Amino acid sequence: MNRKRIWIGVTGAVMAAIAIAVAILYEPAIAPVAPPAPDSFDAQLKRDGARVVALGDCVVCHTAKDGRPFAGGLPLVTPFGTIYATNITPDPQTGIGAWSEAAFARAVRHGISRDDHLLYPAFPYVHFTRMSDHDIAAAYAYLMSREPVHAIAPANRLIFPLNFRPPVAFWNLLFLRPGPREADASHDARWNRGKLLVDGLGHCASCHSPLNAIGAEKAGHAFDGGIVDGWEAPPLNALDGAARPWTQAQLVTYLRTGRASEHGAAAGPMLPVTRDLATVPREDVEAIATYVLSLQKGAPRAVEPVASRAASPAAQRGAVLFNASCAQCHGTGSPMQTIGERPTLAFSTAVNAGTPRNAIQMILNGIAWHGEDAANYMPAFSGVYDDRQIADLVAWVRGAWSTKPAWPDAEPLVARLRKENSAR
Ligand code: HEC
Ligand code: HEC
Ligand code: HEC
Repeated sequence: MNRKRIWIGVTGAVMAAIAIAVAILYEPAIAPVAPPAPDSFDAQLKRDGARVVALGDCVVCHTAKDGRPFAGGLPLVTPFGTIYATNITPDPQTGIGAWSEAAFARAVRHGISRDDHLLYPAFPYVHFTRMSDHDIAAAYAYLMSREPVHAIAPANRLIFPLNFRPPVAFWNLLFLRPGPREADASHDARWNRGKLLVDGLGHCASCHSPLNAIGAEKAGHAFDGGIVDGWEAPPLNALDGAARPWTQAQLVTYLRTGRASEHGAAAGPMLPVTRDLATVPREDVEAIATYVLSLQKGAPRAVEPVASRAASPAAQRGAVLFNASCAQCHGTGSPMQTIGERPTLAFSTAVNAGTPRNAIQMILNGIAWHGEDAANYMPAFSGVYDDRQIADLVAWVRGAWSTKPAWPDAEPLVARLRKENSAR
């Protein structure tokens, strides 16, 4: 067979597979309903819903920058193009106001919209499918009693053939196992609760796992670490290999406040996760931490930090910049470290990681000022230093605070991340 005929054969087979998947999974539209009145829901159910929605980070994805909560419009940049999160306020025209609870449950468990279109897996329904009936009812009650906002999300910009939705049926056949899972009797209730929250509502693996060529989590590599929005989400199964292995208490504090005594702070896409977890009952976060700590693979301990080694020319230039712009917070004996009790950079996962990605992102973006929490603020340096200077800073930070080998020159990565960040 010549190339062209093989190509036609492959295309035909793929089309047939999609057609079969569509035929198997097709479900018709669910009729619209009159929006239920907010006070038709039980008050306790709505309170439970607030917890469910916080654990699922619904507001994080469904709110545009400076937009109204849940009104959609946030662009999610994927390797296949940009997908916009939709409006999930109870507006009947542009939101989910005309959705029955059955339609809502179907979207969350099967990734099918109220009319019959398939939703893209950027909406983490492969995880949310594990939610209990009660949690789905509670999320529905909570969302339906928000303020309706009339807002239409911009049209998605996806590459062919993914700008058509039917291929998602094939994806679902491969990767979606709908419905809640049985509890594992060999573990206690807290561990099982943690597993349910991590694998379900918390969808932690959707960021913390590597993805395959078609954007699904790689089988057998759950929690091995992934890339999201230009940041590395570190492995969650190697927390025992940190310069200071994580304890249960530190992990709970980190997840609820974004900080822990012997670890770097939460930044980038992890920061909103911790802000949501700050609002849920402590037992839920204790359960998450218990389960996450049970995933450890026994990573080799990082060696204790040593005094700095001979610095490369880049690192020497970086040292000068560091003393000018960073030492007042990160220098040994600075108020942030003594009075503020923030750990040295030597304990940071970003500084000890295989790539300088998160250290660069940290320097480019800083940590935005958020509310009262002044201890967790770092200015953004993207407008202060050019690519070369940020690469120099990163070289100095690595050499001075990590015992791991030097990173290759980071300038090309700085340039790329800067460009990607500005497209977001
Ligand atoms: C990681 C980002 C992300 C998170 C977290 C997220 N969503 Fe979404 N959601 C999306 C995207 C993107 C879409 C649109 C998908 C599409 O158009 O194919 C969507 C679509 C939906 C839809 C379908 C709306 C429609 O008009 O078809 C519902 C319902 C929904 N989400 C509910 C939720 C709830 C409830 C939560 C929290 C438990 C949540 N989402 C959390 C990204 C997210
Ligand atoms: C939207 C993507 C996303 C989701 C969802 C997410 N994380 Fe993260 N997480 C990240 C990123 C990115 C980092 C690195 C942030 C940094 O360096 O400040 C991170 C960092 C962490 C760290 C610190 C790791 C270290 O070695 O320093 C822990 C622990 C963690 N996440 C746990 C969780 C848990 C548990 C969940 C689910 C409840 C979760 N994450 C959900 C993106 C995510
Ligand atoms: C106003 C104080 C302040 C200044 C100035 C500052 N930082 Fe930070 N930086 C922080 C805080 C707060 C964190 C969060 C870490 C923590 O609380 O442990 C942080 C985190 C970091 C991290 C990641 C550590 C982690 O949490 O994993 C790196 C890398 C870093 N800073 C580098 C720099 C560099 C390089 C400069 C100078 C160009 C700089 N910082 C300037 C306050 C500051």
